[in-house]
Amino acid sequence: MCGIVSYASDKDVIKRIMTGLKSLEYRGYDSSGIAYIKDDNINIIKREGPIKNLDKVLDYEDEAYVGIAHTRWATHGKADDINSHPHRQGKITLVHNGIIENYAELKKELIKKGYKFKSETDTEVAAATIDDLYNKYNNMLEVLSKIPSILKGSYALNIICDDKIDTIYGIRKDCPLIVGLSKTGNMMASDIPAILHVTNKYIVLDNDDIVVLNKDNVKIYNNKKEEITKKIKEFDNTEEVISKNGYDHFMLKEINEEPEVVKKLISLYTKDGKVKDLFNIKKYKNIDIVACGSASFAGQIGKYFIEKYAGIRVNVYFASEYRYQTNFFTKDTLVILISQSGETADTLAALKLAKENNIDTLAIVNRRDSSIAREAKYVIYTEAGIEIAVATTKAYLAQVLVLLFLAIQGNKKEKDILDELKKLPNIMIKYINDYDYFKIAKLVKNKEHVFYLGRGIDYYLSMEGSLKLKEISYIHSEAFQAGELKHGSISLIDEDFGVISVVTDKSISDKTISNLKEVAARGAKIISITNNKDDHFADYKILLEDYGEVLGPLSVIIPMQLLAYNVAKLKGCDIDKPRNLAKSVTVE
Ligand code: AGP
Repeated sequence: MCGIVSYASDKDVIKRIMTGLKSLEYRGYDSSGIAYIKDDNINIIKREGPIKNLDKVLDYEDEAYVGIAHTRWATHGKADDINSHPHRQGKITLVHNGIIENYAELKKELIKKGYKFKSETDTEVAAATIDDLYNKYNNMLEVLSKIPSILKGSYALNIICDDKIDTIYGIRKDCPLIVGLSKTGNMMASDIPAILHVTNKYIVLDNDDIVVLNKDNVKIYNNKKEEITKKIKEFDNTEEVISKNGYDHFMLKEINEEPEVVKKLISLYTKDGKVKDLFNIKKYKNIDIVACGSASFAGQIGKYFIEKYAGIRVNVYFASEYRYQTNFFTKDTLVILISQSGETADTLAALKLAKENNIDTLAIVNRRDSSIAREAKYVIYTEAGIEIAVATTKAYLAQVLVLLFLAIQGNKKEKDILDELKKLPNIMIKYINDYDYFKIAKLVKNKEHVFYLGRGIDYYLSMEGSLKLKEISYIHSEAFQAGELKHGSISLIDEDFGVISVVTDKSISDKTISNLKEVAARGAKIISITNNKDDHFADYKILLEDYGEVLGPLSVIIPMQLLAYNVAKLKGCDIDKPRNLAKSVTVE
């Protein structure tokens, strides 16, 4: 949630910061702002809405030499100029990603000390807290070493202090923060895309690390104020700089990258008809899959494959529930955490909970160096490349494939399934190029409500199809077990209610088809993504080839994603940055 970036250099400070900030806009786009030092004075400019609103009022020629900036996903206070970051109190100006949970009680004490607050944000309280400490200690390193014991919650902070205007200070706890190192200057940012236009050399910060940087050097301290050295890493594929490569949207670009993602995962994790070098789940009796959003829906498909091919019981939990529910950890339990960003706060907390209970943790993550990847006992990377569109596509697919590989290891069908899987890239290319989703999308675009129906693996697929449709087209869509509908929710059905069904699993499709007929009897028109040519159970079909028990369900993924994409496009929605969302949810 929220993206922060800062830069110290002799030239192009505003340009470099704004380029970095724009590449972080997927982290929140409710408002944005920048503070920079020019002629020894601090200039703060902030605007409600997407970064382009700020861009319009900025003078890129301004000779700044230090700057901090922020793009916001609102947690405290509405999206307006006043609540936008940076926030300033006394000599302290800062930007913040995260949530200060004890801000209300801190604010009370600060008001008694005479502090006045303009905004509703927890962040302005952090600025006042740091200013108050600075008045006491007059030393920023001393102040920041005290912060972990004073601020509760999660934060990544970039700070300018009036008494040291050539310097930017940084500290983090549970929210990501990296340092970018280059000959032209030094920077900090929430994520790698923000530094790639300046450098690919970076340092990943750990909790409570304190950064003191200026244009010429970077010093990092632990919270005992001891200087520490950190490994400098290199991001190896800078050519993957954040561009749409000519596609209208990052989502469409990332869907078109899925065939290559499949090929990459097959070559990385399989050899000669066998899964290789992958984590062996066979020694566990119970598996808890814990994740959020689409990652949890990939987990549901994983549950289906692991129970079917590995014969191990799997439970799938939303991380936001898992961390507060009663869990029955046994020594032969494995907790699998799934996350594209590797920074989702609830999933990270669930991971820590499992570790506290000495339970083995396996993270299936897309982003290297992310908190979840670094905290988990074991990690498998989904290698889908940087995903910018808020609505995940290629990362979800990659998560499903990794779970399939885990499930089929040593199963008698392992070779057949892997041989089948080699066909998937071409099948996907065909479904991307040869189908007219627009025609079906027109039928959905005016629907206010949609049920996405299926049974078994088709229901688990529907969960993701429904979320994709909902999050980018703003149509209220719910995935529903087709067999469950008649126990109440079918009362919602009428001729205006949209029904999309996934029907690929031959072992139960008859049952699903009877349920669809019950729905049709109430006047609803049925759209179906199916490999069933024969039966007349749908008014409109996205007819797929019949590719068997694994390829069949997997081949539904692209049609579901492109259907949602085309509906959102028809409705003129901001497909890559849907309202109220952000790509990585770093707050509870
Ligand atoms: C999916 O399109 C959404 N962006 C969202 O549901 C996402 O899957 C969820 O926030 C989990 O994110 P993660 O995979 O980065 O942990």
